[in-house]
Amino acid sequence: MANVIVVGAQFGDEGKAKVTDLLSKNSDIVARYQGGSNAGHTVVVEGETYKFHLIPSGILYKGTICMLGPGMVIDPKAFIKELEGLLACGQDVSLLKVSTTAHVTMPYHLAIDAAEEDSRGSLKIGTTKRGIGPTYADKCDRIGIRMEDLLAPDVFRSKLEWLVPKKNIILERLYDLPPMDAKQIFDEYIAYGEMMRPYICDTSAIIFQAVKERKNILFEGAQGTLLDLDHGSYPYVTSSSPSAGGACVGAGIGPTVIDRVIGVSKAYLTRVGEGPFPTEQHGEVGDQLRQVGKAWAEVGVTTGRPRRCGWFDCVLGRYSARINGLDCLAVTKLDVLDEFDQIKVCIAYRDTQDGSVYRDLPAMAGAFSRMEPIYETFAGWKKPTNHCRSFAELPMQAQKYLDFISSELDVPVAIVSVGPKRDQTIVIEDPIHGPKRVLSSVIN
Ligand code: IMP
Repeated sequence: MANVIVVGAQFGDEGKAKVTDLLSKNSDIVARYQGGSNAGHTVVVEGETYKFHLIPSGILYKGTICMLGPGMVIDPKAFIKELEGLLACGQDVSLLKVSTTAHVTMPYHLAIDAAEEDSRGSLKIGTTKRGIGPTYADKCDRIGIRMEDLLAPDVFRSKLEWLVPKKNIILERLYDLPPMDAKQIFDEYIAYGEMMRPYICDTSAIIFQAVKERKNILFEGAQGTLLDLDHGSYPYVTSSSPSAGGACVGAGIGPTVIDRVIGVSKAYLTRVGEGPFPTEQHGEVGDQLRQVGKAWAEVGVTTGRPRRCGWFDCVLGRYSARINGLDCLAVTKLDVLDEFDQIKVCIAYRDTQDGSVYRDLPAMAGAFSRMEPIYETFAGWKKPTNHCRSFAELPMQAQKYLDFISSELDVPVAIVSVGPKRDQTIVIEDPIHGPKRVLSSVIN
């Protein structure tokens, strides 16, 4: 039995879906704990490509309970579309569970997210415009709609009758947009509630029971640590807590049941949206990283926006190891680096204002934007790696590269992914039952 959190250790899009897919095989429950349809995961199984936004990719394994936890924000329209897609491919969705207390992304959230983003000018965040920020804002303001409300017509109606006129003031007066009709929203969303009724339940209670039965539970984070509302590159973050701490709050479980935290990092770095990115490459290198390998095309699954690409950043990696208490690392997309003559890794930052050097992320957001990278340069291995199935089979330079990252972050690399397919994976050490790093390495 092991209860494991899988987190993105960078800016999201690290290839978590492939790692959770790999680990889901031995999981009784896969629970997502935050975010909404801003997430985008691609999983390739038996030649079929599946794109997930809300539903954990563990659904592709028979007998695995898949949960959308209380910390999530769910757009019912997007959920139903995804559900129908899975059914059309003949997938079994009978073990899908949606938390009664997850918040609902409403049409006014979508409209306000898009309008607010467009009005920000130079202050724009580059959100996915999936209504994420406004849904979480209403949750904090205690005026949110929860999944349970979609099952209680009287409560839902009265909430909408009070809320929609308030939202219309924002839509009409602030953004010059047409008002919304409470009755129309009620009819549409109560129907979604009925479609989702078979899946809505107390997911936290199911997890608790599973813990008592010593089952295996995988907590799946969306986005990444550097997009965490509290610990990311604020304000260029999402509105939830993708980092490991968020798993307990967002799934409704105590920290004492967590056995292990696995961080997922690309072998380089990408970011979608605005915000600091010291190792970003604008020229040929950036284009090459973006374009290499059709299967890995660096385009956002949710928005189709090209991802910003750059070299691996150990400063961010160390920060992520700290914030999440990482036990081990899964490094994905190593094969994307196969053709490079030289590969750079950022080991520290230099402040462009006063020349001071940082090995750790500066705590002030303003300072982060001023940082320039200090690099260590590696010779490329210039050989394909996508056929390698063990660490020893990797070219020597690739082994050195991975060892370097591991020692800089002080976190062992347990998994390496060398292609999008399930079997294009190298397991260096058991990611779940390996030594407990936080106890053995950090404290000693
Ligand atoms: P939001 O989550 O749509 O509010 O967007 C906030 C920031 O997080 C923007 O920079 C987005 O590009 C980024 N973001 C949100 N979801 C993802 C994701 O799944 N992968 C990568 N970036 C994301």
